[in-house]
Amino acid sequence: MIHLRDIRKSFGKSTAVDGLSLDVYSGEVFGLLGPNGAGKTTTISIATGLLAADEGTVRIGTGAGAGSPREARVRALLGVAPQSLALYDELTGRENLHFFASIYGLRGAERAAAVIRCLELVGLADRGRDLVKAYSGGMKRRLNLAAALLHDPRVLFLDEPTAGVDPQSRHALVEIVAQLKQRGVTVVYSTHYMEEAERMCDRVAIIDHGRALAVGTVGELISAHGGASVVEVVRGAGEHASVQRTATPDPLGVLAAALATGSIASARIHGPTLESVFLSLTGRSLRD
Ligand SMILES: Nc1ncnc2c1ncn2[C@@H]1O[C@H](COP(=O)(O)OP(=O)(O)O)[C@@H](O)[C@H]1O
Ligand SMILES: [Mg+2]
Repeated sequence: MIHLRDIRKSFGKSTAVDGLSLDVYSGEVFGLLGPNGAGKTTTISIATGLLAADEGTVRIGTGAGAGSPREARVRALLGVAPQSLALYDELTGRENLHFFASIYGLRGAERAAAVIRCLELVGLADRGRDLVKAYSGGMKRRLNLAAALLHDPRVLFLDEPTAGVDPQSRHALVEIVAQLKQRGVTVVYSTHYMEEAERMCDRVAIIDHGRALAVGTVGELISAHGGASVVEVVRGAGEHASVQRTATPDPLGVLAAALATGSIASARIHGPTLESVFLSLTGRSLRD
């Protein structure tokens, strides 16, 4: 559905995207996972035709219908919820959506229906008449997403939709993405929260310095790059408790050996995560 080939983009001397190629399949939730400055927003701007690449090609769509996002016909398939909120604080939620719907060319009853449908989808139907300046950060994020859905796009780009959002709104956003996927929408989702990427994405690209370091399902990435599990065994109790941690490719074997040596108070196995994948690919932690 989305094909990026050898994309390059520099701003002056700084290279934001450095030879990036990606394919996103129809109907999947695809994660762009990387730290701040990795090039996620620039990649999304190029993929959606908002920014021209210095080099490389972008094609969106399937079969004979595929084309460049710079063509109006192709752009009509795309929705973008930008990282920097694009909302009018002095208008109500509904007024904001009516405004954006009019930009998409929706009129009359069709526009009113789209506004109501999208307010409901993001759980803001009962707050639509309130001014946006009275919204919480999470509500603004949800309205920002609603604005990207008014024209019923087939491909949705979400740029850090959960950054700085309260847990309830974060949960709501995760649920909305799951609903959109069920309706067959292809979703590209950028985040620096690996837990979210692990939960939501069918496939993930690990992005750093404008390059895709690895692409695959979370399971594939963890088995290829995640490294060892850690077994934590606690012996004794209270002030006499001691904890032994062992990094191993065979956690169950280590646990069995610990059990065979005598009584243990408790034990836990920590499997490798996307965080371990990022660490092993870059030598750095994803956490800010
Ligand atoms: N308009 C711009 N002008 C100058 N530098 C930019 C601009 N946009 C992005 N950059 C730089 O490009 C790099 C990638 O930025 P960005 O795509 O925003 O990364 P991310 O979204 O992963 O945080 C950063 O070093 C950033 O400072
Ligand atoms: Mg960004």
